[in-house]
Amino acid sequence: MSPQEQASDRPRDLADWPTQSLRGHKLDGHRYTSKEFAEQEWEYMWTRIWLLLGREDEMPNPGDWQQEEVGRESILMVRQKDGGIKAFYNVCQHRGQRLVTEKKGHIARFICPYHSWAWNPDGSLDFVQDADDFPDGNPCGKLVLEEIPSETFAGFVWVNMNPDCVSLREFLGPVWDEWEAYGIEKWKRYVAKTTMVPVNWKVVLDNFNESYHVNTVHRPKGDDVEKLRIHSGVDTRYKTTRFDMANEGHGRMIMLGGYAGPAIDKEGAIGEPLASILTEWELDPADFSSRGEATREALQAARRKLGPDKGYDYFENLNDSQLTDAYHYTLFPNFAVSLWVDGFHFLRARPHPTDPEQCLFDNWWYAPDPEGVSSPVRTTAGLVERGAAVDHEEFEAGTQTMGLTIDQDMSIFPGQQLSMRSRGYRGSYLGGQETRVSRLHELIDDYIEGKRS
Ligand code: FES
Ligand SMILES: [Fe+2]
Repeated sequence: MSPQEQASDRPRDLADWPTQSLRGHKLDGHRYTSKEFAEQEWEYMWTRIWLLLGREDEMPNPGDWQQEEVGRESILMVRQKDGGIKAFYNVCQHRGQRLVTEKKGHIARFICPYHSWAWNPDGSLDFVQDADDFPDGNPCGKLVLEEIPSETFAGFVWVNMNPDCVSLREFLGPVWDEWEAYGIEKWKRYVAKTTMVPVNWKVVLDNFNESYHVNTVHRPKGDDVEKLRIHSGVDTRYKTTRFDMANEGHGRMIMLGGYAGPAIDKEGAIGEPLASILTEWELDPADFSSRGEATREALQAARRKLGPDKGYDYFENLNDSQLTDAYHYTLFPNFAVSLWVDGFHFLRARPHPTDPEQCLFDNWWYAPDPEGVSSPVRTTAGLVERGAAVDHEEFEAGTQTMGLTIDQDMSIFPGQQLSMRSRGYRGSYLGGQETRVSRLHELIDDYIEGKRS
């Protein structure tokens, strides 16, 4: 039995994820720098998988649309009259002009900026200048915008450039049921930051597929090693952490959380944010000054008892562990989520259109908004006023903060990317707690080699 399997305190009523046997990958620098490799990823992976791209509640009315870029493609998502959403390539079928350049808007018709062809929200062509001048006949009724399979789940719009794709539910596997319990479709956005970072997208995802770096990169200044075991209330030791990998390619890591643990100062005061969290749930931090390990269960009991009355109706769908612990999911290939009892921290890396040594990095946070709860929302970018309308911010890396933890991760990325070109780098040497890193690369190779589609 592995150390993580011996962990006694872990959720038992979530479905077990299967055991995987891996080939064991050595990650060489070529994978992070080569245009040829990036091209293979595009051709055989990016264009054949489900990608989370939009948010339903940003398109509430027919004609509302969002545009999102992934690699060389720009994809339009448009709310339809029947309430559904359709996705199209942002490409005019006349001579290929992009129909929109903005991120979102509302239209009666998309009017192409080149020759004014007018496309309806359902992708049909409504108007063409000089329609009688086309030797092959009036294109209206003949041409449509190129549609892409799309589905919605957890309030997000997912698209798949493969017309013969499996259903989103099939792709998400066990993640679907686990996320469904939270009602994330009702949660509101409290952070939305995007920046271009000078690294291959896999540098970002490798990082979020392991927690081995936490005690180094996120080490609080001045703290001793014992304190480091608890970071933001979470026990980061690999021996108490549960690591899982789904057949569909997704990863799950569960860390026990809600601890004051050793993060109590010499006077017995419990540090933030846990002290405020305890108070919010009608617990007195002073009661735990000599027993920091007891806060986890106390918080679980308080949330179980008080949650429904406070408007957290979905708590009844969750087990005790989910009321305090850190559930980290990595969705193959490019999407990482820390799912807290009251927060959905969404990290995504999107490939650059042409340069394998750059990627778009998104850091978003969604949180429930129960009626009657007025306390600010705790996010990775600090406290945000509840109910605040949060705009999507795009900026150059380093010109704004992403929030302390993510800034710390980002400070590491470029140094690693530079070494991917070094003659001195012989490839990775991975630990057991980095198995999900290895699997990410193994699956990419499987897609490229046609073993998965
Ligand atoms: S390219 Fe769109 S109308 Fe000509
Ligand atoms: Fe990190």
